[in-house]
Amino acid sequence: MPPEVYTSSAFLELEKRSIFSREWQCLGRASALAKPGDYLTADVNGQPVIVVRTAEGALRAMSNVCLHRMSLLLQGRGNARVIVCPYHGWTYTLQGELRGAPLLSNQPGFCKESYRLPEIRCEVWQGWVYVTLDPDADAVAEKMTDLDALIAPYEISNYVETFYEEHVWNTNWKILAENFMESYHLPVLHRATVGPHSKLEDMECPPGHTTFNYHWITKEASLPIGNAHPDNTRLQGHWRKTTVLLAIYPAHLITLTPGYFWYLSLQPQGVDHVHIRFGGGLAPEFVSDPQAHDYMARLKKLLDEVNAEDRRGVEAVFRGVQAPLATPGQLSPLERPNYDFARYIAQRASAFLELNASR
Ligand code: FES
Ligand SMILES: [Fe+2]
Repeated sequence: MPPEVYTSSAFLELEKRSIFSREWQCLGRASALAKPGDYLTADVNGQPVIVVRTAEGALRAMSNVCLHRMSLLLQGRGNARVIVCPYHGWTYTLQGELRGAPLLSNQPGFCKESYRLPEIRCEVWQGWVYVTLDPDADAVAEKMTDLDALIAPYEISNYVETFYEEHVWNTNWKILAENFMESYHLPVLHRATVGPHSKLEDMECPPGHTTFNYHWITKEASLPIGNAHPDNTRLQGHWRKTTVLLAIYPAHLITLTPGYFWYLSLQPQGVDHVHIRFGGGLAPEFVSDPQAHDYMARLKKLLDEVNAEDRRGVEAVFRGVQAPLATPGQLSPLERPNYDFARYIAQRASAFLELNASR
Protein backbone atom coordinates (compact mmCIF):
# COMPACT_ATOMS: atom_id res chain seq x y z
CA MET A 1 0.00 0.00 0.00
CA PRO A 2 1.24 3.57 -0.57
CA PRO A 3 3.07 5.15 2.37
CA GLU A 4 0.31 7.71 3.07
CA VAL A 5 -2.06 4.88 4.00
CA TYR A 6 0.08 4.38 7.12
CA THR A 7 0.77 8.02 7.97
CA SER A 8 -2.21 10.15 6.99
CA SER A 9 -4.63 11.25 9.71
CA ALA A 10 -7.29 11.69 7.04
CA PHE A 11 -6.87 8.04 6.04
CA LEU A 12 -7.11 6.93 9.68
CA GLU A 13 -10.32 8.94 9.96
CA LEU A 14 -11.62 7.06 6.92
CA GLU A 15 -10.62 3.72 8.51
CA LYS A 16 -12.38 4.66 11.72
CA ARG A 17 -15.58 5.53 9.92
CA SER A 18 -15.55 2.69 7.39
CA ILE A 19 -13.98 -0.10 9.49
CA PHE A 20 -13.58 0.41 13.24
CA SER A 21 -17.04 1.92 13.85
CA ARG A 22 -18.65 -0.98 11.97
CA GLU A 23 -16.74 -4.23 12.17
CA TRP A 24 -16.87 -6.87 14.88
CA GLN A 25 -13.71 -6.62 17.01
CA CYS A 26 -12.22 -9.09 19.45
CA LEU A 27 -11.66 -8.07 23.10
CA GLY A 28 -10.31 -11.36 24.49
CA ARG A 29 -11.46 -14.79 25.60
CA ALA A 30 -14.89 -15.30 27.16
CA SER A 31 -13.29 -17.66 29.72
CA ALA A 32 -11.57 -14.59 31.24
CA LEU A 33 -15.06 -13.51 32.33
CA ALA A 34 -16.10 -16.76 34.00
CA LYS A 35 -17.85 -15.56 37.19
CA PRO A 36 -20.73 -13.10 37.67
CA GLY A 37 -19.26 -9.60 37.99
CA ASP A 38 -16.06 -10.40 36.04
CA TYR A 39 -15.46 -7.53 33.64
CA LEU A 40 -13.04 -6.20 31.06
CA THR A 41 -12.78 -2.71 29.64
CA ALA A 42 -11.69 -1.58 26.21
CA ASP A 43 -11.58 1.36 23.88
CA VAL A 44 -13.35 0.53 20.64
CA ASN A 45 -12.93 3.28 18.07
CA GLY A 46 -12.90 5.93 20.82
CA GLN A 47 -15.90 4.43 22.64
CA PRO A 48 -15.01 3.16 26.14
CA VAL A 49 -16.68 -0.24 26.59
CA ILE A 50 -17.34 -2.55 29.55
CA VAL A 51 -18.02 -6.24 28.98
CA VAL A 52 -19.37 -7.93 32.10
CA ARG A 53 -20.66 -11.37 33.10
CA THR A 54 -24.09 -10.64 34.62
CA ALA A 55 -25.62 -12.46 37.59
CA GLU A 56 -27.72 -14.42 35.08
CA GLY A 57 -24.53 -15.68 33.39
CA ALA A 58 -24.84 -13.72 30.15
CA LEU A 59 -22.16 -11.45 28.70
CA ARG A 60 -23.28 -7.86 28.40
CA ALA A 61 -21.39 -4.99 26.77
CA MET A 62 -22.20 -1.37 27.45
CA SER A 63 -20.82 2.14 27.41
CA ASN A 64 -18.15 2.73 30.08
CA VAL A 65 -19.17 6.39 30.45
CA CYS A 66 -21.11 7.68 33.45
CA LEU A 67 -24.53 9.20 32.76
CA HIS A 68 -23.90 12.05 35.22
CA ARG A 69 -20.94 14.18 34.05
CA MET A 70 -19.51 11.54 31.74
CA SER A 71 -16.52 10.25 33.68
CA LEU A 72 -15.09 6.87 32.74
CA LEU A 73 -16.48 4.20 35.08
CA LEU A 74 -14.27 1.07 35.22
CA GLN A 75 -10.63 0.51 34.27
CA GLY A 76 -8.67 -2.61 33.35
CA ARG A 77 -10.12 -5.97 34.30
CA GLY A 78 -11.59 -7.22 37.56
CA ASN A 79 -14.72 -8.28 39.39
CA ALA A 80 -17.47 -5.97 40.63
CA ARG A 81 -20.89 -6.50 42.22
CA VAL A 82 -22.02 -3.06 41.11
CA ILE A 83 -20.41 -0.37 38.98
CA VAL A 84 -19.57 2.71 41.03
CA CYS A 85 -18.50 5.90 39.27
CA PRO A 86 -15.21 7.10 40.78
CA TYR A 87 -16.24 10.78 40.44
CA HIS A 88 -19.47 11.34 42.46
CA GLY A 89 -20.51 7.79 43.19
CA TRP A 90 -23.43 7.15 40.89
CA THR A 91 -23.94 3.40 41.08
CA TYR A 92 -25.10 1.02 38.33
CA THR A 93 -26.15 -2.62 38.30
CA LEU A 94 -24.32 -5.11 36.08
CA GLN A 95 -27.27 -4.68 33.69
CA GLY A 96 -26.42 -0.99 33.40
CA GLU A 97 -29.42 0.36 35.35
CA LEU A 98 -28.80 3.32 37.63
CA ARG A 99 -29.23 2.04 41.19
CA GLY A 100 -28.39 5.11 43.21
CA ALA A 101 -27.10 8.69 43.00
CA PRO A 102 -25.95 10.41 46.23
CA LEU A 103 -28.33 13.19 47.43
CA LEU A 104 -30.46 12.99 44.30
CA SER A 105 -33.13 10.43 45.16
CA ASN A 106 -35.62 13.02 46.51
CA GLN A 107 -34.66 15.74 44.11
CA PRO A 108 -37.66 16.95 42.04
CA GLY A 109 -37.34 15.98 38.41
CA PHE A 110 -34.76 13.27 39.03
CA CYS A 111 -35.98 9.96 37.63
CA LYS A 112 -33.52 7.18 38.36
CA GLU A 113 -35.38 4.78 36.07
CA SER A 114 -34.70 6.94 33.03
CA TYR A 115 -30.94 6.24 33.22
CA ARG A 116 -29.38 3.14 31.75
CA LEU A 117 -25.89 2.69 30.28
CA PRO A 118 -26.28 2.28 26.50
CA GLU A 119 -25.90 -1.35 25.46
CA ILE A 120 -23.32 -2.39 22.86
CA ARG A 121 -23.64 -5.55 20.78
CA CYS A 122 -21.56 -8.42 22.11
CA GLU A 123 -21.36 -12.00 20.83
CA VAL A 124 -19.05 -14.94 21.42
CA TRP A 125 -17.41 -16.74 18.50
CA GLN A 126 -15.23 -19.84 19.15
CA GLY A 127 -14.60 -18.68 22.72
CA TRP A 128 -13.72 -15.09 21.77
CA VAL A 129 -15.64 -12.02 22.94
CA TYR A 130 -16.54 -9.84 19.98
CA VAL A 131 -18.24 -6.44 20.06
CA THR A 132 -19.42 -4.03 17.37
CA LEU A 133 -20.60 -0.44 17.52
CA ASP A 134 -22.84 -1.08 14.49
CA PRO A 135 -26.39 -1.93 15.60
CA ASP A 136 -27.12 -3.24 12.08
CA ALA A 137 -24.09 -5.53 11.62
CA ASP A 138 -24.80 -9.18 10.75
CA ALA A 139 -24.17 -11.67 13.57
CA VAL A 140 -20.43 -12.26 14.07
CA ALA A 141 -20.84 -15.99 13.30
CA GLU A 142 -22.01 -15.10 9.80
CA LYS A 143 -18.72 -13.59 8.77
CA MET A 144 -16.91 -16.63 10.16
CA THR A 145 -18.72 -19.43 8.26
CA ASP A 146 -15.85 -20.16 5.83
CA LEU A 147 -13.31 -19.91 8.63
CA ASP A 148 -15.28 -22.24 10.91
CA ALA A 149 -15.21 -24.86 8.16
CA LEU A 150 -11.42 -24.50 7.73
CA ILE A 151 -10.44 -24.80 11.39
CA ALA A 152 -13.27 -26.96 12.76
CA PRO A 153 -11.10 -29.97 13.76
CA TYR A 154 -8.95 -27.82 16.06
CA GLU A 155 -12.05 -27.03 18.21
CA ILE A 156 -10.40 -23.83 19.34
CA SER A 157 -13.37 -22.84 21.51
CA ASN A 158 -12.08 -25.41 24.03
CA TYR A 159 -8.52 -24.00 24.17
CA VAL A 160 -7.70 -22.53 27.59
CA GLU A 161 -6.12 -19.08 27.97
CA THR A 162 -3.08 -19.10 30.28
CA PHE A 163 -1.75 -15.55 29.77
CA TYR A 164 -3.08 -12.14 28.78
CA GLU A 165 -1.34 -8.76 28.45
CA GLU A 166 -1.84 -5.35 26.85
CA HIS A 167 0.84 -3.26 25.13
CA VAL A 168 1.21 -0.13 23.00
CA TRP A 169 3.75 -0.03 20.14
CA ASN A 170 4.92 2.93 18.13
CA THR A 171 3.68 1.94 14.68
CA ASN A 172 0.62 2.12 12.49
CA TRP A 173 -1.84 -0.70 13.26
CA LYS A 174 -1.71 -2.04 9.69
CA ILE A 175 2.07 -2.43 9.74
CA LEU A 176 1.75 -4.78 12.72
CA ALA A 177 -1.21 -6.61 11.16
CA GLU A 178 0.74 -7.09 7.92
CA ASN A 179 3.78 -8.31 9.81
CA PHE A 180 1.64 -11.04 11.35
CA MET A 181 0.21 -12.10 7.98
CA GLU A 182 3.47 -13.10 6.35
CA SER A 183 6.15 -15.55 7.41
CA TYR A 184 8.53 -14.28 4.69
CA HIS A 185 10.37 -12.27 7.37
CA LEU A 186 10.97 -15.20 9.75
CA PRO A 187 14.45 -16.29 8.56
CA VAL A 188 15.80 -12.72 8.65
CA LEU A 189 14.07 -10.56 11.28
CA HIS A 190 13.91 -13.57 13.62
CA ARG A 191 17.36 -15.00 12.84
CA ALA A 192 18.24 -14.91 16.57
CA THR A 193 15.13 -16.88 17.65
CA VAL A 194 12.75 -18.85 15.41
CA GLY A 195 14.40 -17.98 12.09
CA PRO A 196 16.77 -20.97 11.88
CA HIS A 197 13.81 -23.38 12.35
CA SER A 198 11.62 -21.62 9.76
CA LYS A 199 11.83 -22.99 6.24
CA LEU A 200 10.03 -20.95 3.62
CA GLU A 201 9.18 -24.16 1.74
CA ASP A 202 7.05 -25.37 4.72
CA MET A 203 4.66 -22.43 4.20
CA GLU A 204 1.54 -22.28 2.10
CA CYS A 205 -0.43 -19.11 1.36
CA PRO A 206 -3.83 -19.80 -0.24
CA PRO A 207 -5.99 -16.93 -1.54
CA GLY A 208 -7.81 -15.02 1.17
CA HIS A 209 -11.55 -14.86 1.83
CA THR A 210 -13.64 -11.69 2.13
CA THR A 211 -13.49 -11.54 5.92
CA PHE A 212 -10.10 -13.14 6.67
CA ASN A 213 -6.86 -14.45 5.23
CA TYR A 214 -4.60 -17.26 6.40
CA HIS A 215 -1.48 -19.26 5.78
CA TRP A 216 -0.24 -22.63 6.97
CA ILE A 217 3.06 -23.99 8.20
CA THR A 218 3.38 -27.77 8.39
CA LYS A 219 6.42 -29.11 10.24
CA GLU A 220 7.61 -30.97 13.30
CA ALA A 221 7.29 -28.49 16.20
CA SER A 222 10.30 -27.69 18.38
CA LEU A 223 8.18 -28.00 21.57
CA PRO A 224 5.76 -30.94 22.08
CA ILE A 225 2.84 -28.49 22.55
CA GLY A 226 3.21 -27.39 18.91
CA ASN A 227 2.08 -30.83 17.66
CA ALA A 228 -1.13 -32.68 18.51
CA HIS A 229 -1.18 -34.41 21.92
CA PRO A 230 -1.46 -38.24 21.69
CA ASP A 231 -4.96 -37.94 23.25
CA ASN A 232 -6.02 -35.56 20.50
CA THR A 233 -8.14 -37.65 18.11
CA ARG A 234 -9.67 -34.62 16.38
CA LEU A 235 -6.76 -33.81 14.09
CA GLN A 236 -5.63 -36.32 11.46
CA GLY A 237 -2.58 -36.73 9.21
CA HIS A 238 -0.58 -33.58 8.47
CA TRP A 239 -3.07 -31.51 10.50
CA ARG A 240 -1.41 -32.90 13.62
CA LYS A 241 1.67 -30.82 12.71
CA THR A 242 0.02 -27.82 11.07
CA THR A 243 0.07 -24.30 12.43
CA VAL A 244 -2.52 -21.91 10.99
CA LEU A 245 -1.91 -18.16 10.98
CA LEU A 246 -5.20 -16.33 10.73
CA ALA A 247 -5.89 -12.66 10.16
CA ILE A 248 -9.56 -11.94 10.80
CA TYR A 249 -10.35 -8.47 9.48
CA PRO A 250 -9.80 -5.90 10.58
CA ALA A 251 -7.35 -6.73 13.37
CA HIS A 252 -7.69 -10.11 15.12
CA LEU A 253 -4.57 -12.17 14.48
CA ILE A 254 -4.37 -15.77 15.66
CA THR A 255 -1.66 -18.40 15.66
CA LEU A 256 -3.46 -21.71 16.03
CA THR A 257 -1.46 -24.91 16.55
CA PRO A 258 -2.65 -28.40 17.49
CA GLY A 259 -1.44 -27.86 21.07
CA TYR A 260 -1.52 -24.14 21.83
CA PHE A 261 -2.67 -20.78 20.50
CA TRP A 262 -1.81 -17.13 20.83
CA TYR A 263 -3.42 -14.00 19.45
CA LEU A 264 -3.21 -10.24 19.04
CA SER A 265 -6.17 -7.92 18.75
CA LEU A 266 -5.28 -4.42 17.58
CA GLN A 267 -6.84 -1.01 17.98
CA PRO A 268 -5.29 2.10 16.41
CA GLN A 269 -4.29 4.92 18.77
CA GLY A 270 -3.67 7.63 16.22
CA VAL A 271 -1.72 6.82 13.04
CA ASP A 272 1.47 6.28 15.03
CA HIS A 273 0.51 3.95 17.90
CA VAL A 274 -1.29 0.64 18.14
CA HIS A 275 -2.90 -0.82 21.26
CA ILE A 276 -2.39 -4.58 21.46
CA ARG A 277 -4.35 -7.22 23.36
CA PHE A 278 -2.05 -10.24 23.55
CA GLY A 279 -3.12 -13.60 24.97
CA GLY A 280 -2.66 -17.32 24.50
CA GLY A 281 -2.90 -20.75 26.04
CA LEU A 282 -3.22 -24.50 25.57
CA ALA A 283 -5.39 -27.07 23.84
CA PRO A 284 -7.48 -29.02 26.37
CA GLU A 285 -5.41 -32.25 26.09
CA PHE A 286 -2.33 -30.35 27.23
CA VAL A 287 -4.05 -28.63 30.16
CA SER A 288 -3.92 -31.85 32.18
CA ASP A 289 -0.41 -32.79 31.00
CA PRO A 290 1.89 -32.19 34.03
CA GLN A 291 4.61 -30.65 31.85
CA ALA A 292 2.34 -28.51 29.70
CA HIS A 293 2.59 -25.40 31.81
CA ASP A 294 6.39 -25.62 31.80
CA TYR A 295 6.28 -25.89 28.01
CA MET A 296 3.86 -22.98 27.88
CA ALA A 297 6.19 -20.90 30.08
CA ARG A 298 9.07 -21.68 27.71
CA LEU A 299 6.89 -20.81 24.76
CA LYS A 300 5.82 -17.53 26.40
CA LYS A 301 9.45 -16.60 26.95
CA LEU A 302 10.14 -17.33 23.28
CA LEU A 303 7.04 -15.36 22.18
CA ASP A 304 8.24 -12.39 24.24
CA GLU A 305 11.62 -12.50 22.47
CA VAL A 306 9.98 -12.92 19.06
CA ASN A 307 7.57 -10.06 19.80
CA ALA A 308 10.49 -7.82 20.77
CA GLU A 309 12.03 -8.57 17.35
CA ASP A 310 8.71 -7.90 15.62
CA ARG A 311 8.37 -4.66 17.58
CA ARG A 312 11.77 -3.49 16.33
CA GLY A 313 10.76 -4.56 12.80
CA VAL A 314 7.38 -2.83 12.68
CA GLU A 315 8.60 0.33 14.42
CA ALA A 316 11.41 0.53 11.85
CA VAL A 317 8.89 0.18 9.01
CA PHE A 318 6.83 2.97 10.54
CA ARG A 319 9.87 5.26 10.54
CA GLY A 320 10.55 4.19 6.95
CA VAL A 321 7.07 4.88 5.56
CA GLN A 322 7.31 8.50 6.73
CA ALA A 323 10.37 9.19 4.56
CA PRO A 324 9.94 11.49 1.53
CA LEU A 325 11.59 8.86 -0.68
CA ALA A 326 9.62 5.90 0.73
CA THR A 327 8.01 3.70 -1.91
CA PRO A 328 6.85 0.07 -1.69
CA GLY A 329 8.19 -2.73 -3.92
CA GLN A 330 6.88 -6.07 -5.17
CA LEU A 331 5.35 -8.58 -2.76
CA SER A 332 6.68 -12.14 -2.65
CA PRO A 333 4.33 -15.13 -3.09
CA LEU A 334 4.58 -15.59 0.69
CA GLU A 335 2.97 -12.17 1.13
CA ARG A 336 -0.23 -13.21 -0.62
CA PRO A 337 -2.21 -12.46 2.60
CA ASN A 338 -0.85 -8.87 2.57
CA TYR A 339 -2.27 -8.43 -0.92
CA ASP A 340 -5.65 -9.71 0.28
CA PHE A 341 -5.53 -7.39 3.31
CA ALA A 342 -4.73 -4.39 1.10
CA ARG A 343 -7.73 -5.26 -1.06
CA TYR A 344 -9.92 -5.47 2.03
CA ILE A 345 -8.77 -2.02 3.23
CA ALA A 346 -9.25 -0.52 -0.24
CA GLN A 347 -12.68 -2.09 -0.62
CA ARG A 348 -13.95 -0.80 2.74
CA ALA A 349 -12.54 2.67 2.25
CA SER A 350 -13.81 3.08 -1.31
CA ALA A 351 -17.27 1.65 -0.54
CA PHE A 352 -17.57 4.20 2.26
CA LEU A 353 -16.46 7.08 0.01
CA GLU A 354 -18.84 6.03 -2.78
CA LEU A 355 -21.74 5.75 -0.37
CA ASN A 356 -21.07 9.24 0.96
CA ALA A 357 -20.61 10.68 -2.53
CA SER A 358 -24.01 9.32 -3.60
CA ARG A 359 -25.81 10.85 -0.59
S1 FES B 1 -19.54 11.71 36.62
FE1 FES B 1 -20.10 9.81 37.41
S2 FES B 1 -21.03 10.27 39.27
FE2 FES B 1 -20.53 12.22 38.46
FE1 LIG C 1 7.50 -11.88 13.23
